[in-house]
Amino acid sequence: MLPVLTESSVHMTLTDEIKALNDAHVINTYGERTVALSRGEGMLLWDAEGKEYLDFFAGIAVCNLGHCHPAVTQAICDQAKKLVHVSNLYYIEAQTLLAAALCKHSFAEKWFFCNGGAEANEAAIKLARRYWEKQGTPKPGIVTAQQSFHGRTIATVTATGQPKYHDGFQPLVPGFSYVPYNDLAALEAAITPDVGAVLLEPIQGEGGVRVPDDCLDLLVEAVRGSVRDLEGALIQLVTTAALLKRSIDLELTRMALHKLAPVPPRKPHLEPEKIIDVVAGFFGTNRAALASRSRRRDVLVPRQLAMYLCRRYTDHPLSRIARAFDRDHPAVSNAVKVVERKILERAPLRYQVEELSARLDRL
Ligand SMILES: Cc1ncc(COP(=O)(O)O)c(C=O)c1O
Repeated sequence: MLPVLTESSVHMTLTDEIKALNDAHVINTYGERTVALSRGEGMLLWDAEGKEYLDFFAGIAVCNLGHCHPAVTQAICDQAKKLVHVSNLYYIEAQTLLAAALCKHSFAEKWFFCNGGAEANEAAIKLARRYWEKQGTPKPGIVTAQQSFHGRTIATVTATGQPKYHDGFQPLVPGFSYVPYNDLAALEAAITPDVGAVLLEPIQGEGGVRVPDDCLDLLVEAVRGSVRDLEGALIQLVTTAALLKRSIDLELTRMALHKLAPVPPRKPHLEPEKIIDVVAGFFGTNRAALASRSRRRDVLVPRQLAMYLCRRYTDHPLSRIARAFDRDHPAVSNAVKVVERKILERAPLRYQVEELSARLDRL
């Protein structure tokens, strides 16, 4: 006898069936979803009904080679035929080769493999705490940003600066504090002697897409000590500049990165007054002129450079540097930002910074 088709079973789509079966057997931690995806190719995705989508999400930015790229598919199939899982108790040739390839094409010298973002952040948190412990000066404190997202494990949910993710999981992991995103003064104030690490997203995602004012500068800063693969660094810079709708001159950027690549030797305890004297001497002026209120270019530029060098060359807090210029600390952080932004584009400015750095090194 044929089954009796009810009104609802006639209209039940494959998506409805997947949803019903899913709801019966999978714990719901994500709320209501409406689409069941079944196939992908490059930037395209298809749902269970065959409807096509253009994918702007890329599996939260981790499938950015496109879906089912033939080379990726082939590599997965080849490995699956050889060996799937043996644990970390053994050397694994493919893992070793991957680490070596990543080192060659990136900033890092060694890699830690893990299963995802939360586990990576857990490892970073543990590494920071272990590091300071081993130094004999434990610094368990970790500063993160409000509205951040760092994962769903208990430590990374604590690191996540959003109360809605904390609800129901108390007591959380001790030692975390939160500052407003993109507020360097607040961040600096939060770095007390017991703070051993700062965990920040270069661009926030989960808390709403938020781009810090000086993202590009932070990126330059991040790559400058460790530019191995200049092309990689340039790609990062160009992509970020495009995101921020800021134009950069590629050739100048390349030159700047070449120049910035070596880590400038720092002199953590050099007094700001000494640096101001060197900069003033270079420009044929004096410390009083640089600390004056004048906004003439022949005073403004040396003042900005002196502030930049004080900040980059020493470990003094912004407030100490500001005092040497008889100003408040936003004046210093603004000047530092101005120099870091212009240094990419202006060869004379780079020359001046280089020459001044050399003079400071000789002190
Ligand atoms: C910024 C950030 N950190 C950490 C995570 C956690 O990664 P995972 O879901 O792989 O544990 C995510 C996930 O979306 C993320 O966006």
